Amino acid sequence: MEQPPRVSQQVKLAAHPEGKLRSTDFILAETPLPSLAPHQVLLRNRWFRISVSTRLMASRDAKEIKGIPFPALRPGDALADGAIGEVIAATPESGLKVGDTVSHSLGWRDYAVADARQCTVLPRERLDPVAYLGHGWTAYAALTRGTHINRGDTVLVSSGAGAIGSMTGQIARRLGAGRVIGSTGSPGKVEWMKHELGYDAVIVRDGRPFAAQLAEAAPHGIDVFVDMVGGEQLTAAVSQAREGARFVILGALIAELNAQGSSAIAPTEIDSFQLPIKGITLRGYSACEDDPGAFAEWMQRLDAWRHEGTVCLPATIFKGLDNAPKALQEACEGKLKGVVLVEL
Ligand SMILES: NC(=O)c1ccc[n+]([C@@H]2O[C@H](COP(=O)([O-])OP(=O)(O)OC[C@H]3O[C@@H](n4cnc5c(N)ncnc54)[C@H](OP(=O)(O)O)[C@@H]3O)[C@@H](O)[C@H]2O)c1
Repeated sequence: MEQPPRVSQQVKLAAHPEGKLRSTDFILAETPLPSLAPHQVLLRNRWFRISVSTRLMASRDAKEIKGIPFPALRPGDALADGAIGEVIAATPESGLKVGDTVSHSLGWRDYAVADARQCTVLPRERLDPVAYLGHGWTAYAALTRGTHINRGDTVLVSSGAGAIGSMTGQIARRLGAGRVIGSTGSPGKVEWMKHELGYDAVIVRDGRPFAAQLAEAAPHGIDVFVDMVGGEQLTAAVSQAREGARFVILGALIAELNAQGSSAIAPTEIDSFQLPIKGITLRGYSACEDDPGAFAEWMQRLDAWRHEGTVCLPATIFKGLDNAPKALQEACEGKLKGVVLVEL
């Protein structure tokens, strides 16, 4: 029988990032594992997710934010994020058994002691980590709860190659959208976005006015905007909105990934008169806070759509815990596609 380890390797914040995040802002540290209390289990992590919000939560002024499922970090704190692990020791009260595979929130480490009540048992056979740790369900919840798609809608997705965005365009199409437009800051992602993700047009954040590019990509206007970015993309989307357009705001990457330093404030100028004139609805939406039940429904839809071969699950997978800080740095720099996972 496997001897339970006494220590865990954990990635910790070394210092608050100044400006651009560097992988050296983090250290890998050995940390003693506590003995198990009632309801607890010892997990060996197999995969965990990298989220760009970690840059915001690592910033000097970070505070708890509703909807971001990990705390503000101080130097010396271990990072956390969604993970999949295998139970290697369990207390009788936990209701779990050795060999179970669970999802939980203690990523960024090889071994974790977790409360079984915070763990969800997953199927062991043919487990696809991208399906469970990816943001397909966030995109699905936003498109079915945060707003809805009418047949033939023109849909704009900002950060359309990112963790949420790479799923949003595909799901919008499956739900009946007619024309789907994505944005990116990386010219190298354009062909992939068109061919793999099925965007009809891609707008590149390259210094040219976004409004002019959007008017060209959607000459008849947009019906739905799923916004992860804010700033000039939101300004332009309001100008290009059609009568009755629905905007669902999921995040503000202009603030989180600001080159000068991460921030939780994303001031954006919009022509507010357009809202009553066109009957535009603007809604902020958080999938984890607003409708946790969407996950189960999404997994059923995903099964059916994958069976038909009509959706893909884009991901960039790094191997090894020591590569995790590099994965976060590259995710924030826009070098990666889809959801970013680390495999241990
Ligand atoms: N509401 C919810 O339920 C929910 C849940 C999870 C996350 N979120 C939020 O949703 C947003 C998107 O999350 P995500 O995990 O899917 O992130 P993401 O889109 O994967 O973010 C990384 C990408 O952002 C783009 N980017 C880099 N710098 C940028 C800048 N200065 N301005 C605009 N884009 C930049 C890059 O893509 P390109 O090179 O392609 O531009 C990069 O690859 C975040 O604000 C996150 O906090 C919301």
